[in-house]
Amino acid sequence: MAFKKMDFFMESSIYDDVNGKIKMNISKKELLSMNNELVDLLNTLLEAEKAGVETMAYLLDKEPNNELFKEVKNDEAWSCAGLIQSIKREGGTVSTAKGDFADKVRALPTIQEQLDLLCKGQAWVVRRIDRALPLEMSGETRTFLEEMKKKHEVNISNVEQGI
Ligand SMILES: [Fe+2]
Repeated sequence: MAFKKMDFFMESSIYDDVNGKIKMNISKKELLSMNNELVDLLNTLLEAEKAGVETMAYLLDKEPNNELFKEVKNDEAWSCAGLIQSIKREGGTVSTAKGDFADKVRALPTIQEQLDLLCKGQAWVVRRIDRALPLEMSGETRTFLEEMKKKHEVNISNVEQGI
């Protein structure tokens, strides 16, 4: 009886760790195609977050003592690091490209318009995370994306209050 229980426990643990273990039974090609959509989204997010760091560096040049800008910049950098780890964890290749969001922000004439666009960009990121979350992924990647989403929602709210 004890042996059967252990058997059951081991089998459950295999199914608990869905992404890590079940996928080992399918071909690498199948695994890659299953992960393509997720990896593409993670890379799109990474390119956006790199542009986010650049945008916040630009805004901090204008307002070096703005604590909120510093926080947002740190969160964008934290997101980049977590996305790189997630892409590698999910078997993808990390994109070296960067989005052109900072150029769009710089092109606007007033800080109000720039911050408004910043919030729109952050909301776009939240929608992309919502698109990724229903996909299959490891628990670590999911936890990271949920945290990244929360940080973005808090930052949108804080920046909007400051505008
Ligand atoms: Fe962001």
